[in-house]
Amino acid sequence: YYKTVMTHFSRYLPPGRVTNDDLSKLMDTNDTWITERSGIKERRFVEEPTSTSDLAIEAVKKVLTESKLSPQDFDYIIASTLSPDFYFPGIAPIVQHKLGFPTIPAIDIRVQCSAFVYATQMAQAMIQSGQYKRILLVFSDVQSKLLELNTNGRNVAVLFGDGAAAVVCEAQECSESEMPRVDNQSSGVIDTILGSDGVGAELLLIRSPGTATRGFLTEETHATGDWHPKMEGRAVFKHAVNRMCEVAETLMKKHKITANDIACLIPHQANLRISEMVREKMELSPDKVFNNIQKYGNTTSATIPICINEALEQGRIKRGDLILTVAFGAGFTWGGSLIRL
Ligand code: ACO
Repeated sequence: YYKTVMTHFSRYLPPGRVTNDDLSKLMDTNDTWITERSGIKERRFVEEPTSTSDLAIEAVKKVLTESKLSPQDFDYIIASTLSPDFYFPGIAPIVQHKLGFPTIPAIDIRVQCSAFVYATQMAQAMIQSGQYKRILLVFSDVQSKLLELNTNGRNVAVLFGDGAAAVVCEAQECSESEMPRVDNQSSGVIDTILGSDGVGAELLLIRSPGTATRGFLTEETHATGDWHPKMEGRAVFKHAVNRMCEVAETLMKKHKITANDIACLIPHQANLRISEMVREKMELSPDKVFNNIQKYGNTTSATIPICINEALEQGRIKRGDLILTVAFGAGFTWGGSLIRL
């Protein structure tokens, strides 16, 4: 048997801090509205000419240093972003080339804010099959260059920030009884449940460039602003709370555990109110949930691994702890993972 152990996490946030007051100079908004509606106080934006792969590379460099591994030690790269450097190709081959990885397979997945749980399940299945031994997960998003930073786009623009994270997933051979489960202390990914429903595809999207519209970045597209993210905030909010609660409940029922068995809930950081509603539904005390949206906003694909890395560093969670991560994103896509760190 092969279990999947997440041996190292890293994060990279660009240095440029953008406070709510800074945004209020660009659009009709204010610190009180943003704080009350989302919990966000500030976020990070890249400076030109930083691209999404540049952020990804910084996170990967950190995880290589920390783990003392070299690019030659990996046999697969899974990257996730909704803001790639180019329309195609994705960022995974760019990271592979620029950091001198061997010519191993490298793919991008496109599940927006659900990236961590989807990538976790893919890595676990690939490792469990015996085909791959060490997989690099990399999550990076530069939303700042896509946002409509004026009053017209304020319902979306205030929510997002730029950031990246990397995770080393390692195959460890073990007996059947040593496979990670909620009732033993074996480290590794225990289980992931995923879902999707395209009913929400047009409730949160960047419409262009895309083939559903006529052509790509035409003058018309520019005029309509279709290259900015658009969101029906209230509808997305409701779906997010429902699906995140549902997936947490399903995982707990399946593994016959209660919220008390979980050391920490790590929700995708879309809105502090969403995290709070999920926490209350699960009847968890505030100290059993980790949030950092206040400092970084929603960093899309990177939020959950950024949280895990920061929570480990702050001692909020430690190796051996059972954590539950839940995510919801555009698509709609969602999922949850139970992991023994
Ligand atoms: N500053 C000031 N006023 C604003 C702002 C702003 N930045 N944005 C909107 N408003 C105004 C609106 O115009 C509206 O005014 P009106 O009542 O005069 O029409 C009022 O505030 C209320 O707007 P709502 O959109 O109804 O506010 P709501 O309380 O729903 O909060 C928010 C909006 C924060 C966007 C919320 O709906 C939300 O967080 N949605 C979900 C986000 C999410 O989960 N995303 C999923 C993951 S992202 C991914 O996968 C890429």
